[in-house]
Amino acid sequence: MKSSAVGVMDVDDHHDQPLSSTIKSMGIWMKKNVRVFDVSVLSLLFVGLIYIFLSSPSSNNKPFLPPRKPHCHPTIMYNMSTYRDELEEVLAKTSMANKSLIIAVVNKAYVEGEKSMLEMFLDSFWLGENTRALRDHLLIVTVDQTSYERCKFLGLHCYKLETNGVDFVGEKLYMSADFIKMMWRRTLFLGDVLKRGYNFIFTDTDVMWLRNPFSRLILNETFDLQISTDNFNGNESSKANPINTGFYMVRSNNKTIALFNTWYSRKDNFTGMKEQDVLQAIIREPMFTGLGVNVRFLDTLYFSGFCQDSRDVRAVVTVHANCCRSISAKVADLMAVIRDWKRFKSTNESLTFGSTEHLACRNSWRRH
Ligand SMILES: *[C@@H]1O[C@H](CO)[C@@H](O)[C@H](O)[C@H]1NC(C)=O
Ligand SMILES: *[C@@H]1O[C@H](CO)[C@@H](O)[C@H](O)[C@H]1NC(C)=O
Ligand SMILES: *[C@@H]1O[C@H](CO)[C@@H](O)[C@H](O)[C@H]1NC(C)=O
Ligand SMILES: *[C@@H]1O[C@H](CO)[C@@H](O)[C@H](O)[C@H]1NC(C)=O
Ligand SMILES: *[C@@H]1O[C@H](CO)[C@@H](O)[C@H](O)[C@H]1NC(C)=O
Ligand SMILES: *[C@@H]1O[C@H](CO)[C@@H](O)[C@H](O)[C@H]1NC(C)=O
Ligand SMILES: *[C@@H]1O[C@H](CO)[C@@H](O)[C@H](O)[C@H]1NC(C)=O
Repeated sequence: MKSSAVGVMDVDDHHDQPLSSTIKSMGIWMKKNVRVFDVSVLSLLFVGLIYIFLSSPSSNNKPFLPPRKPHCHPTIMYNMSTYRDELEEVLAKTSMANKSLIIAVVNKAYVEGEKSMLEMFLDSFWLGENTRALRDHLLIVTVDQTSYERCKFLGLHCYKLETNGVDFVGEKLYMSADFIKMMWRRTLFLGDVLKRGYNFIFTDTDVMWLRNPFSRLILNETFDLQISTDNFNGNESSKANPINTGFYMVRSNNKTIALFNTWYSRKDNFTGMKEQDVLQAIIREPMFTGLGVNVRFLDTLYFSGFCQDSRDVRAVVTVHANCCRSISAKVADLMAVIRDWKRFKSTNESLTFGSTEHLACRNSWRRH
């Protein structure tokens, strides 16, 4: 295959698999809020109380306004940074009370252009059903300075992923050495997040969030990994489903940490293979059973994409621009998805959704 310039994360290969997406997932979610009593919250509260106590008598009866400078006694300066490092801090700030968050990774190519992919992604949180509040729990991991600055400018939670010796600034050629390095850096990073005890949904930014996915994911401890598929074969337990690492939810536990360790440890074995293909291979290996990771393969009726459209606008949760090669094609065809979604929201008309051809994406595979 001829290489062409694409962004970091996702040139989604097409998988030709038989399809029969008839089994609906039983997506009734059980709330199991393991309330982690966060020491840092407690200490912040404590410091805050002291602060109010000390400042209120002398600040014109406005205890919640900062006191004027002269009142600030040097001995009341507290070092508020109680976090182990910057990642710990940003994870604590971004996650929900149950240590869950949403993670996306971007580079320069995803924040630029007339309409950037990152902006389309954020638009979907605005236009989706019950998705607006999720923005507060979204962590954007940036791999270069431009995307970091853009992220900050947009007022998001941002974390700059440093990588020694690799320049991730420019667009990466698909399957080039840097492209593959970047993918593996991502896997290492996500394993680190798991080790710190955080559950997360990983999402590519070419996934439109039209509904709140927590309503369709199973939130009790039954599943360790719930992962989207390019084509759904009708069986949520079947390893024959072709996975797509552009959208998945993973719980932090020993099993998933071991899985991510195994996954990353294969980085030099499968030279030239995408990390998605490596994970797919691991899931189908006999040793995978030994890890004890319970996987649920997600139905494209809900977690859909261009490889296999959801035709049910009343059920669809996410739409991924998979089976597509270039960022500009993804943006063009996702615009049509957003247009159909808006039409549905304003007219309650459901016929056209999912039947629009993704012409730009289909053409993106042609030789130029
Ligand atoms: C987890 O949730 C699913 C779906 O809501 C339910 O069928 C299952 O029984 C639950 N399992 C446990 C262990 O609670
Ligand atoms: C206190 O804050 C400074 C500057 O933010 C930081 O370098 C230092 O490590 C902090 N010390 C502790 C004990 O957290
Ligand atoms: C975490 O808590 C939020 C709200 O507090 C809830 O919407 C979400 O479903 C929970 N996630 C998990 C994995 O329990
Ligand atoms: C679904 O796949 C699992 C694992 O391959 C298998 O055990 C089960 O029988 C399948 N269920 C159906 C309904 O085919
Ligand atoms: C998970 O690993 C930790 C640390 O190695 C260990 O203390 C704990 O018992 C393990 N838990 C399970 C369920 O295996
Ligand atoms: C990975 O590579 C190492 C060293 O080359 C080799 O010992 C090991 O068997 C390989 N593992 C797999 C699964 O290919
Ligand atoms: C939208 O249409 C469906 C079925 O056509 C109907 O059940 C539902 O009540 C309608 N909703 C609104 C808000 O009109």
